[in-house]
Amino acid sequence: MTKSDSNCNENSQFTRSTIFYYTGTGNSLWLARTLAGKIGNAELISMVDWDIQKQTIHSSAIGLIFPVHIWGVPRRVLSFLDKLKTISPDYIFAIANNAGQVSNTLVQLKKVMESKDLTLSSGWSIIMPSNYIPWGGPGSLDKQNERFQAAQLKLSLIAEKVQSRVKMPVEKGPLWQRVVFTGLYKVTFPYVHKMDVKFWVDNHCNQCSICLNICPTHNIDIRNGKLTWHNHCEQCLACIQWCPKESLQYGKKTPAYPRYHNPEVKLKDLMNNKSISSLERG
Ligand SMILES: Cc1cc2nc3c(=O)[nH]c(=O)nc-3n(C[C@H](O)[C@H](O)[C@H](O)COP(=O)(O)O)c2cc1C
Ligand code: SF4
Ligand code: SF4
Repeated sequence: MTKSDSNCNENSQFTRSTIFYYTGTGNSLWLARTLAGKIGNAELISMVDWDIQKQTIHSSAIGLIFPVHIWGVPRRVLSFLDKLKTISPDYIFAIANNAGQVSNTLVQLKKVMESKDLTLSSGWSIIMPSNYIPWGGPGSLDKQNERFQAAQLKLSLIAEKVQSRVKMPVEKGPLWQRVVFTGLYKVTFPYVHKMDVKFWVDNHCNQCSICLNICPTHNIDIRNGKLTWHNHCEQCLACIQWCPKESLQYGKKTPAYPRYHNPEVKLKDLMNNKSISSLERG
């Protein structure tokens, strides 16, 4: 399955559901694929790549699947809402996937959508393995598998609700999370683009360019033989997590931490429209 992929009928212009996803390490893409399989008749489109001029959407249901970043909605998803306004679908649902702290993310999304005359009819939290490597790894394989299995069950429930276009309140974290972390999100949000100052590369880097090509903001390049970040970072962490040499680091602790990407998502799934000759290792 590729970035723009129809689950049932590849050529049908009139698919009933379109699921837009945003992902750094593939969890959101895995959720989107799995949900599409349960709903049927759904297409998947990357929020990063959707070209509204070239690809018209005719679906009556729209899904947004994305990771929680720093206890809120990632900037990429917020800016995507302006594109979404051009569709005016009947039913919009969202899945904010996270590592256990969804906090106020879906409430925030609903409010921002309202300010843009969009209605979020339902919103779910799904817990997945953590890709926030500065705080450690994703947990043991057993723990990861438990999360995938629980996610499968929840996706079955969500599929039923989406098929019946059920409207319901969005899910949210406990009050303490929403109080403490919503403030942190607001304080941090304006500085996310500069958080790439903590990236560095060890001497195993072979300049394969994978990190350059996977970055959704084209924030990395090679200057004077050195990898350079340009302060347009979204903190998706795709670059560090997909580096095949594990030579990309963030701060002091990441050399000791395991890398993570969703085991059923391959590098080439995220690099669909780019040169992938060196990427087949997945
Ligand atoms: C910068 C950043 C911030 C994150 N913040 C949170 C958070 O506030 N709460 C949480 O539960 N998980 C958080 N996570 C973990 C991700 O939401 C989670 O691992 C998600 O499944 C990653 O999805 P993806 O593979 O589609 O990118 C964060 C991850 C990143 C990279
Ligand atoms: S992906 Fe890793 S090895 Fe390849 S250029 Fe980037 S840092 Fe170097
Ligand atoms: S520099 Fe890395 S973390 Fe920042 S947006 Fe690009 S791929 Fe994501």
